[in-house]
Amino acid sequence: MDALNRSIGIDFRLWPHDVRLSQAWAEALGDAGVLSPEDCRTIVRGLDVVAERLGRGVAPIASDEDIHTLIDRLLHEEIGEPASRLHTGRSRNDQVATASRLWAMECADAMIGAAAALQATMLERCADLDGAIMPSYTHLQRAQPVAAAHWLLSHFWPLQRDRQRLIAARQSASALALGAGAVAGSAFPVSRERLRAALGFERISENSIDTVGDRDFIADLLYAFAMIGIHLSRFAEDLIMYGSSEFGFVRFGHTYTTGSSMMPQKRNPDALELARGSGARLLGDLTSLLVTLKGLPSSYSKDLQDDKRALFDAADTLMLVLPAVRGTLAELTFNRERMRAAVSSTMMATDLADYLVRKGLPFREAHAAVGRIVRAADERSVELHELSLDEFRKSHSLFDSGVYDALSAEGSVARRGAYGGTAPDALRVQLENARKALG
Ligand code: ARG
Repeated sequence: MDALNRSIGIDFRLWPHDVRLSQAWAEALGDAGVLSPEDCRTIVRGLDVVAERLGRGVAPIASDEDIHTLIDRLLHEEIGEPASRLHTGRSRNDQVATASRLWAMECADAMIGAAAALQATMLERCADLDGAIMPSYTHLQRAQPVAAAHWLLSHFWPLQRDRQRLIAARQSASALALGAGAVAGSAFPVSRERLRAALGFERISENSIDTVGDRDFIADLLYAFAMIGIHLSRFAEDLIMYGSSEFGFVRFGHTYTTGSSMMPQKRNPDALELARGSGARLLGDLTSLLVTLKGLPSSYSKDLQDDKRALFDAADTLMLVLPAVRGTLAELTFNRERMRAAVSSTMMATDLADYLVRKGLPFREAHAAVGRIVRAADERSVELHELSLDEFRKSHSLFDSGVYDALSAEGSVARRGAYGGTAPDALRVQLENARKALG
């Protein structure tokens, strides 16, 4: 039973928050006249000493069930009898909810910083891509040429949405749970408003039954983490692909890659693969929490102890993965020539159709005419720019010598100037907006 019940191995890291909330609770009991001023001072100072001991490292003993009972034992060791008065009117149920919320808020802040650091590196690397053109893909088939920085920024905006989700999750956590007691509230006249202010919460929870069983804030955080994991997995996949010899758009550095024990020539993008893989872990942690919550009776049940297993695992994972992806991106080199060489004139088929449209042809007819040309080029295994003007005119009489300009990749990119598009001016606006979003 002890082995099953113990959570100290997982919740040990809550100690700074548990100490802090316990000191706030002692003050609240003091203010309410439940504790003498002297006992209150003794407890607060005793908890400072306990925090120092915990900071230096304390090995839990067999009877330490969780971080709350461990701190209780240490406080007894330090100050004796007054320690027994601290637990008046509170329960580990409102205690663990409060400590978890404080931890979650701090964690959200750290994750927001780690995501912003990756975004900042993306913006820095855009400078190295200035003027570079590469293929864009749909269905992983060559589609249309784009500015390479436009591709990189396509991974910036998902992280921007992620940071907003993290801010929302932090707000969701920012409610004072202390004072809810075990389930029915506290029978001593403590000021929850003073507790709220002392611990830095935005609001006070409204219903003690709900409070001890509410883990929505953890679900919110785990969802935000899972989305980051999904976004990183897609960014990683792009980079892994672009780093293959077949693409050759990027070359990885040495710090975040590994060699092979057998093949001397290998430089494997392990950090990116682990980032891609850890998306599964983050989804698993979210799923595990949601399944834990589903169908639980209201208020606290011990099932909830496992919330922290999921939360800490996901947070630890992302805190390794985000900086590793950032580091990989910071040290890789872009091969602009390989990017440019992968743009073939056949990718300008849409531009050809647009060219006919500008000459007055309805788009559907233009699409059909270009379709005939693409088939002709395909049959002879040549690219569009290798066809003669005669061949173009066979498919439509509106073609003239201007057709070869329409096949320029730079021209194709430059024409896509609508807001959010890949043309240089639109890209400048986007970069400016990205810098502002990052703050
Ligand atoms: N270790 C417990 C948890 O994390 C603390 C709350 C225990 N509450 C109780 N009634 N046994 O959930």
